[in-house]
Amino acid sequence: MLLQSASNLLHESPLLVFSTAIFLLLVMQVVRDLFINPLTKYPGPWFAGASRIPQLYHTFKGDLIHWVTSLHVAYGDVVRVAPDELSYASGDAWKGIYGHAAVGKKVTEKDTRFYGPSFNGAPDIIRANGPDHSRFRRNFSHAFSDRALRDQQSLICNYVDMLVETLKAKIKKDSKEKVNMVRMFNLTTFDIMGDLTFGDSLDLLLGTGDTNWVSAVFSSMKTNALRRLGRYWPWTAFIAQNFIPRVLKQQAIAHYKASQARVDKRIDHNPDLKKPDIWGIVMNQKEDLRLSRTEMYANSQVFMVAGTETTATTLSGLLYNLLMKPETMDKIVEEILDTFEKDSDIEMRPLEHMKYLNACIEEALRVYPPVPVGLPRITPDDGLLICGKHVPGKTAVSVNQWATYHSPKNFKHADDFIPERWIDSEFASDNKASFQPFSFGPRNCLGRNLAYHEMRLILAKVLYNFEFTLVPESIGWEKQNTFFLWEKNELVVQLKVREARR
Ligand code: HEM
Repeated sequence: MLLQSASNLLHESPLLVFSTAIFLLLVMQVVRDLFINPLTKYPGPWFAGASRIPQLYHTFKGDLIHWVTSLHVAYGDVVRVAPDELSYASGDAWKGIYGHAAVGKKVTEKDTRFYGPSFNGAPDIIRANGPDHSRFRRNFSHAFSDRALRDQQSLICNYVDMLVETLKAKIKKDSKEKVNMVRMFNLTTFDIMGDLTFGDSLDLLLGTGDTNWVSAVFSSMKTNALRRLGRYWPWTAFIAQNFIPRVLKQQAIAHYKASQARVDKRIDHNPDLKKPDIWGIVMNQKEDLRLSRTEMYANSQVFMVAGTETTATTLSGLLYNLLMKPETMDKIVEEILDTFEKDSDIEMRPLEHMKYLNACIEEALRVYPPVPVGLPRITPDDGLLICGKHVPGKTAVSVNQWATYHSPKNFKHADDFIPERWIDSEFASDNKASFQPFSFGPRNCLGRNLAYHEMRLILAKVLYNFEFTLVPESIGWEKQNTFFLWEKNELVVQLKVREARR
């Protein structure tokens, strides 16, 4: 009887039956996640435990880091942010989640739903897990070694000098010209990375190159955040795909084709193996480490993303904070002028030993980390010990940089820009081990040393040559959205050439 009426209903309104079945399945899933899922013992709001929708909503809105931080404030150092995901805001979690595995244990792997595939589907150093990652890491580590960096010094300085000359030319034309320093730092880091990646300048500072490079990198981050919807629920992939404006998709294709053409040009038409750029070093590698051409294309895109926005973001945040706190600006300028008699003395080695300048960079990376979100890893099947507690297998786990660095449990006056905390004993109680802006362990940033050299050189040369004034419209610059990286506002300044000391 019951079977007969079910069969009749199926014939009369199949759509109703289908949607009721889907609805019941979803209800069962929510009930399971709220009451049976092993993560129920972790604190967090019920709605985050019931569904990933709140997390994705804040991802698309661009305020994910603030939502996660508010959950940490309410629930503590570990919080359930989605049915199968935990966020941490403590120093110890770095080791547990991102550190090397204990002997005989498996390590966490990157959460592919978060990262997505590379543009051409080939593995690259950011996304690959296991042997591919080790091959890339061994291959590229030569290009980022101390020796390679020394050889790259003149290439980097060349672009920093070009930045200084471009700024001088701007104010020579009009002494009151308003300059957007976010743009200027971006053009500089893109030119440097373009030359290191492709062995050829992008000519952005010269004003003759294609500035789509800069916008394409940020928009690829934003569209990747949208595509995430389809990776968590594959049946929604077409919705995410349709939400992405056509112009952004076209920009991504153009960007990929431009990278591909530049790699081909470097390898096929300019095979100079002595040039200290990345491919010059990679082409000299042993056979077993070599990369296929499609892997080269995919990795060149990684370098153009990982090595540009991040350094330009730190420099922008640092300049803004120095301008908002003039006593810190006075101190760093004094140190630079005391150390260098002339601009051409500004070099990598002496910069490494400048206490206040380096403290300012650390503090900028803390109050305004360029990668402020949590980078999720998946725990091995048999689970993982994190902060002394066993976390079940197949759980996504991450340390949220913004929440960690802005927590008063980790840093005194956590929201304030105080470079002295990296020097003075007054801040000895700060939890410095919780500060890992370049991540931690075997997947930490390969470009860390390059980034520091680049940031020190740009900062020192720019402050040696110019005095800056922030225009009032730029006050509140730090109120920005994040889509993995920051969607930076314009940082508008007026500048004048600094008078030489007598
Ligand atoms: C202030 C500047 C920078 C910051 C804060 C930064 C931060 C990071 C972070 C947090 C990761 C880990 C990503 C993940 O786990 O998915 C990473 C990885 C990476 N970064 Fe950076 N980065 C910076 C500059 C650079 C530069 C200049 C390069 C040069 C190309 C670079 C190349 C890479 C590469 C290749 C990886 C992947 C390493 C691996 O998985 O083995 N980064 N970076």
